[in-house]
Amino acid sequence: MTASSNPAFDMVVVGGTGDLARRKLLPSLYLLHKNGQLSPAGRILAVARHELSTEQYREQIANSSQQEIPADQLDPETWDAFVRRLHYRAAPNATAAGYRSLTKDLDQDGARVRVFYLATMPSLYGDLAHAIGGAGLITDSSRIVLEKPIGHDLASAQQINARVGEAFREEQIFRIDHYLGKETVQNLMVLRFANALFEPLWRSEHIDHVQITVAERLGVEDRGEYYDHTGALRDMVQNHLLQLLCLVAMEPPARLEQDSIRDEKIKVLQSLRPIVDGDVAKKTVRAQYREGVVAGERVAGYHQEPGIGVDSSTETFVALKAEIDNWRWAGVPFYLRTGKRMAYRVSEIMIQFRRVPHQIFEDRLGALQDNRLVIRLQPDEFIKLAMMVKNPGPNIRLKPVDLNLNLATTFAGRTPLAYERLLLDVIQGSATLFMHRAEVEAAWRWVEPILEGWGHREWRPRSYAAGSWGPEESMALMLRDNRSWYELMA
Ligand code: BG6
Repeated sequence: MTASSNPAFDMVVVGGTGDLARRKLLPSLYLLHKNGQLSPAGRILAVARHELSTEQYREQIANSSQQEIPADQLDPETWDAFVRRLHYRAAPNATAAGYRSLTKDLDQDGARVRVFYLATMPSLYGDLAHAIGGAGLITDSSRIVLEKPIGHDLASAQQINARVGEAFREEQIFRIDHYLGKETVQNLMVLRFANALFEPLWRSEHIDHVQITVAERLGVEDRGEYYDHTGALRDMVQNHLLQLLCLVAMEPPARLEQDSIRDEKIKVLQSLRPIVDGDVAKKTVRAQYREGVVAGERVAGYHQEPGIGVDSSTETFVALKAEIDNWRWAGVPFYLRTGKRMAYRVSEIMIQFRRVPHQIFEDRLGALQDNRLVIRLQPDEFIKLAMMVKNPGPNIRLKPVDLNLNLATTFAGRTPLAYERLLLDVIQGSATLFMHRAEVEAAWRWVEPILEGWGHREWRPRSYAAGSWGPEESMALMLRDNRSWYELMA
């Protein structure tokens, strides 16, 4: 597939009235429009079940989409020009008959890139792909975008992949994980593979362990119904956190191409030691938030959130210890944790290096700290390397100091949203940052025994106060290995 820089396109957003479309896709398309990155001939067709006119749809999404756009990027004239690209069509159900009405909205000669973005429940992906195919809407230059999570477990992921694969060729299928569109996540590859410094040290001889944290302040908001059937392991770990783990752990790919990168990521996923039986209790923690205080405000517990059953045992927090059985990573645990309603919104990867082999400063230490590399993904973006230096003065006293690469101050200008980058990639036909079917299935293969372990024991999740860093058991997971979670700052 050749990537053209600015092709004319029709983008069909199925689930156009939903949260994802309003809060992520339309704001990102607006920003691409504003920055001149979309072909003037590009059109967006929102599709959902409700009967609405285009005018009504434009009004309905204006508020919620505009709230997500940085204030300095939003101006009424540009917004008006943007919504002129935007049309609405009702499709009452996921059948070929329901989708045939779209034919007249799409370009007739098939020359444009045609993107079908499924921003719906994953259980509909198979039916929708067939409906789109059955309605005769798939052209040679068509692509379909599937949001995570692809399925609920391995079997449903395989079924979705198979059914979508009956309508679209694998190279037409773009499985999105928006973490791969984040600037610092892409920077991770540059850091590792464009600098000679790190790669020789990037292995068990020099790295003690790795921590990956994705903490959110938000609760489940108005997504209770989706979330309660999903939980943090499926919503975050199976995709975002495992993708981050893969980028830290994979071998250098031969080329910056989808196949090369995907092959290396799959090898990592396949080398993850399965967490089964008794290990589920030892190596995983699942918990649910109760009421508490976040950013100075009292907030409800998970059970009080709209759409959540009173006896729901869905986890909103997961911590776990992952181990990779290969030469590079033998004996180096990767600790992962993610949760909603935590103290701060912060996502970080921390690489903890080992102690120097022989310590000559023993008596005059000051605060000895082993080197650590911290890569912050959000809310701000930086890469910090904590090093020991001498405290100025007559005696030798050591002090840890950060070599700090702050990406916001180093590079002027706005950091694009993850979806901006990825939507543009789909339109341009560049699949490097998207997941292959085998990758998604390998991730489920590792996650599934954990889900089964939780299910067999009918584990009730532990509880943590909203606004905290999770339950005590999460600290205990680290303490058992004589380690502790790296302290995250606001
Ligand atoms: C989504 C999850 O994939 O990622 C949400 O479904 C979560 O539950 C979101 O809030 C977090 O994304 P970000 O970019 O805000 O870290």
